Amino acid sequence: MKRTYIVEALKGNGIDREILVKGWVRTRRDSKGGFSFIELNDGSCFNNLQIIVDAELDNYQNEVIKLFPGSSIAVTGILVKSQGGGQSVEVKANKVKVYGFCNPDEYTVGKQRVSFERLREIAHIRVRTNTFGAVTRVRNKLAKATHDFFQERGFYYINTPIITASDCEGAGEMFRVTTLDHSAIPKIEDNVDYSQDFFGKESFLTVSGQLSVECFACGLSNAYTFGPTFRAENSNTSRHLSEFWMIEPEMAFADLSDDADLAEEYLKYLITTVLEECLEDMEFFNKRIDKTILQTLTHVNESEFVRLSYTEAIDILSKSGQKFEYETNWGNDLQTEHERFLTEKEFKKPIIVTDYPRDIKAFYMKQNDDDKTVAAMDVLVPKIGEIIGGSQREDDLHKLDSRIKEQGMDLAPYWWYRDLRKFGSVPHAGFGLGFERLVQFVTGMDNIRDVIPFPRTPKSAEF
Ligand code: 4AD
Ligand code: MG
Repeated sequence: MKRTYIVEALKGNGIDREILVKGWVRTRRDSKGGFSFIELNDGSCFNNLQIIVDAELDNYQNEVIKLFPGSSIAVTGILVKSQGGGQSVEVKANKVKVYGFCNPDEYTVGKQRVSFERLREIAHIRVRTNTFGAVTRVRNKLAKATHDFFQERGFYYINTPIITASDCEGAGEMFRVTTLDHSAIPKIEDNVDYSQDFFGKESFLTVSGQLSVECFACGLSNAYTFGPTFRAENSNTSRHLSEFWMIEPEMAFADLSDDADLAEEYLKYLITTVLEECLEDMEFFNKRIDKTILQTLTHVNESEFVRLSYTEAIDILSKSGQKFEYETNWGNDLQTEHERFLTEKEFKKPIIVTDYPRDIKAFYMKQNDDDKTVAAMDVLVPKIGEIIGGSQREDDLHKLDSRIKEQGMDLAPYWWYRDLRKFGSVPHAGFGLGFERLVQFVTGMDNIRDVIPFPRTPKSAEF
């Protein structure tokens, strides 16, 4: 018999017929009347399916009453309308086959609530909890919606390299990739001789796929990459990972305002999809994780994002009368406390801050005519702060070269990137959305370590 997934059974597909379901026991309760009630979950949806097992079944004494949370079983039985409250259908078991028992003394996620901190230490098992099942389904939906959104708009999906020789953000926070023997590093005078390394030169894990995706946009008009990125910054915050996923679209013949339009449309598309297609999971988040999440997302969807310049933002912050830890002088980068003040208190909706000071932004951003700012944008949302960073790109070769040199970087590794400005240069723009920050924003989860399957952070790379 073909397996029925619980999501289908709960919709009543197969009602009054025999079906086969498989999954993991969430709870078992034995009644005096000679029955056991098993709550079964197979991951196909948030809810469990109730199984009623008659004590008359052959293996009742030997097996069924030894089924504790975490055990894996297959049940053949009739799907019927439920007698009791709390569920619409249930299965009257004709047969229970046990795949694997689960020792309740050792199984951590069986009974009481376990803290998220503790669950991180057992990340291989935490997916069996309500919260992580829901996070996983929402994350999956956001990935699918991302592809749908860009595919519907004619963007090509590009797999940009993970190993790279160039530093996209120019911040030098890269993990080195090497096969050199650490105990016998080859040197020329005092410098490491990277010509003997695997790639014949210094190489790293990428911090962004942007430079590569720009090549494809400057030839195919619209492209996007969605891949892992790596940053060796020592930030132990609830919004930073050392390995995270980023979605980076790039458009040719586009400026900063087109970029902001795309970002706003994309975020709203993602929220709409999740509200329509993950309602059960979202209701769980609203009940258990953040009681305002549904309201916030609906509000964001109905709002027009505020667009203002960095200079205007600094002005608002300086005049706000609010005490901040970091000063709000023109020229300083916005800190999370500033970002959250603007989006949560001042405007109470997402905002897009544009035209940041040149000196605090990466070399590739287009210089504005004022000689002080660049055509950058950050999208800020409540509770998270920066969720998207993007810009129009510098398309003038001379200006690009002078920025690379000003930042103390070598021109040489960027020869191919500079070529784009030599051969039919076009205005172009794009952005990067941090996928885990997005999942945090949509689910209301507090810590970024709890929205990625196996988090990598300073001093932590288990699993
Ligand atoms: O602002 P960032 O550094 O921009 C770029 O990397 C550009 N190359 C993107 C582009 O224009 N194509 O990073 C983009 C986003 C941030 O807004 C944030 O959401 C996320 O990536 N991000 C992180 N997420 C988790 N952990 C970290 N350490 C992150 N650093 C950035
Ligand atoms: Mg940024």
